[in-house]
Amino acid sequence: MSVDTLTIPTQTVSQSRIAELDFNNIEFGKIFADHMLVADYKDGAWQIPEIMPYGNMSLSPATSALHYGQAIFEGMKAYKSAEGDILLFRPLDNLKRLNISADRMCIPELPEEIFMQGLEQLLRLDAAWVPPTAGCALYIRPFIFATDDFIGVRPSSNYRFVVFSCPVGAYYGQPLRVAIEPNYVRSAEGGAGYAKAAGNYGAALYPARKMQERGYHQLIWTDAREHKYIEESGTMNVMFVIDGKLVTPAVSTTILSGITRASVLQIARDKGIPVEERKVAVSEIVEAHKAGKLREAFGTGTAATIAQIATIHCNGEDLDLPALEGREISNSIAAELDRIKTGQATDLHNWIYKI
Ligand code: COI
Repeated sequence: MSVDTLTIPTQTVSQSRIAELDFNNIEFGKIFADHMLVADYKDGAWQIPEIMPYGNMSLSPATSALHYGQAIFEGMKAYKSAEGDILLFRPLDNLKRLNISADRMCIPELPEEIFMQGLEQLLRLDAAWVPPTAGCALYIRPFIFATDDFIGVRPSSNYRFVVFSCPVGAYYGQPLRVAIEPNYVRSAEGGAGYAKAAGNYGAALYPARKMQERGYHQLIWTDAREHKYIEESGTMNVMFVIDGKLVTPAVSTTILSGITRASVLQIARDKGIPVEERKVAVSEIVEAHKAGKLREAFGTGTAATIAQIATIHCNGEDLDLPALEGREISNSIAAELDRIKTGQATDLHNWIYKI
């Protein structure tokens, strides 16, 4: 818990909407907590944030983010410990990545004070919205968008930073069928793939829909040059267990540096599991599957946490992977990650920020 140095004007709701929420049946991203934090950037500086009831914002039709996508976001989660404490997972890493995205998208850097104290004060107010249920969390969505009323193409002079939250359960309710994407690309060298920029997600909808029409939940992105190397899966990083080693594409300018990704790799290293971060060729996955050496595959992300992959489609063939119960590496890492996030295991790497 930090000392509050920022006085954040706060307008609370007259009546909480929490009764609308069924804690035993939480859908992802549908019901939002009572309050949100809003800070504007104007006259060359971030202004003092305000906390107010969650609600609609009034925007000019010329708001530049709506036209040219100068917008970035983050996803993070808070958990409730058995003692009832609110535990935020690696928030400073989200801030760091937010500011990396900001730099790439010509958005002014957001000060730590606004991010951390804003989050703390918001979460203290909405603490009742953090689900105590196993497998559930409060998903927190910080984002920044360009607010100039101007339709010339140039970086905006005005921005808005907003944080709101929603209780969530599982993002994917089932093991995934994914297909290796041979045509479309998510990102290319020199592009903005490493940034959590809104447009990266919008541009991915069409290829993802095409795969869904073919019976797959998601796709596995490949490199833009040759479609030879694996990059990410849907909105997640992707990992494989090949021959007892945890193998994942190394982060690069085309791959988002996932916080869950980094946490999973660290836990694997802590457990003595060999980890390889490198280029992963599509052909390696197909050959490892043929040789019976591909034992596990899964996506990692804040929303999805660890999403098991049941089937990988490649070149007209469905490669079915071993049953989930036998997936010792991902299951043990997922369990440990869960214990750390909920305060049941030692926080060796100082990932937990108690509110
Ligand atoms: C996250 O995992 O938090 C993401 O950003 C994916 C999201 C677009 C649901």
